[in-house]
Amino acid sequence: MKKIKCCFNGLGSLPMSKEAFSRVLDSAKKLEDASGEGNEYLGWLNLPINYNKEEFNQIISVANEIKEKADVLLVIGIGGSYLGARCAIESQNGVFQTKSKVKVYFLGINLDSDYFEEILNIIKDKSVYVNVISKSGTTLEPAIAFRIIKEMLSNEYSTLELKDRIIVTTDKEKGALKRMSEKEGYRTFIVPDDVGGRYSVLTSVGLLPIAVSGIDINQMMSGAREAVKIFSSDDNDCYRYTSARVALYEKGYNTEVFTNYNPRFTQFSEWLKQLFGESEGKDGKGLFPASMTFTTDLHSLGQYVQDGSKILFKTELEFEEVSQNIKVPFSKDNHDKLNNLSGKSLSYLNEIAQEAVYIAHKKGDVPQIMIKIPENNPYYLGMLFYFFEKACALSAYAIGVNPFDQLGVEEYKKQMKNLL
Ligand code: PA5
Repeated sequence: MKKIKCCFNGLGSLPMSKEAFSRVLDSAKKLEDASGEGNEYLGWLNLPINYNKEEFNQIISVANEIKEKADVLLVIGIGGSYLGARCAIESQNGVFQTKSKVKVYFLGINLDSDYFEEILNIIKDKSVYVNVISKSGTTLEPAIAFRIIKEMLSNEYSTLELKDRIIVTTDKEKGALKRMSEKEGYRTFIVPDDVGGRYSVLTSVGLLPIAVSGIDINQMMSGAREAVKIFSSDDNDCYRYTSARVALYEKGYNTEVFTNYNPRFTQFSEWLKQLFGESEGKDGKGLFPASMTFTTDLHSLGQYVQDGSKILFKTELEFEEVSQNIKVPFSKDNHDKLNNLSGKSLSYLNEIAQEAVYIAHKKGDVPQIMIKIPENNPYYLGMLFYFFEKACALSAYAIGVNPFDQLGVEEYKKQMKNLL
């Protein structure tokens, strides 16, 4: 089976920096023997092997029921409680979700009434299921969204029917959501105690919505399981990537731009931004995670990347096999003078764009890291999730911060509650 690989362009000897690499190995040791800060949150590390098989089968069975009975699944959750599912669904089913029978919409991710109204209009007269996800069970945005949706649905469904249509994913014992689900008798999935929000995509938090959208979660887990194996040897591509980004950070490159050439992965970058931003951005340290989808953003931020402050490097997702379906047609009048491209696939043009950008960015002294993925499918998506989770935890330890707390997020939540 092929695996995810990491290559470098324009980094000179940096990726081989012995100093950074040995710090990454020390960090790996901390993960293995659970001797680092935040070690009570290491459940994700062997999750693809140790996951609760009984719960996994229940997830599949509830997902099948929803696929059979619903037109829409409303996922209510924010941060780590929605980003993984959202990016997985878009990456496999497309930006417009044309591949899945049940449309999945995300609510509780802002406090904007226009966004809410739009969704309420979309779901009118549709058969709706709800998955409300909150580890703490106390986060304001999803709590408010759940209130509104519950009230709306209680005008359409009987109490008994509503009980079947609401599925809760939360802590096994704490929080308001847990208490409510017990009182109302909602079916409930558990967010494991030892897995933090941003590392939870391979738990019920991500898996239920992902399975509802028709993605093979068995394949995802098996890709992640393979990742546990291949990204734990003393020299592997995950460690090399981590060592390169740590070395770049220490050289003064303080922004990592996650790039891709496939809009289906724009949301994956959002997941990466939360993962790295919340894990590393503390104690005045950490790379700032940014993202761009090319070729779109070459026409907006491309100028800055090429020629602006020398503070950023690129980490690019690159697929080795892509669909060659759509081709440039021949035009009789050749008004745009592009007949030399007729018969070429869009994927070919995308590849050429990628090559041109490598050359240009090399000229502009932009360090480039390429993460090469054999194919876009659930198996490699599972592997990719794990690759970045591990790289993130290793990096955070290597720069000297706790990868698993998020006091900054808690601070905003606290201030908001005070003001209200
Ligand atoms: O990663 C994190 O811990 C946060 O982003 C949380 O996921 C987010 O704040 C939502 O928290 P909760 O699931 O407790 O509602």
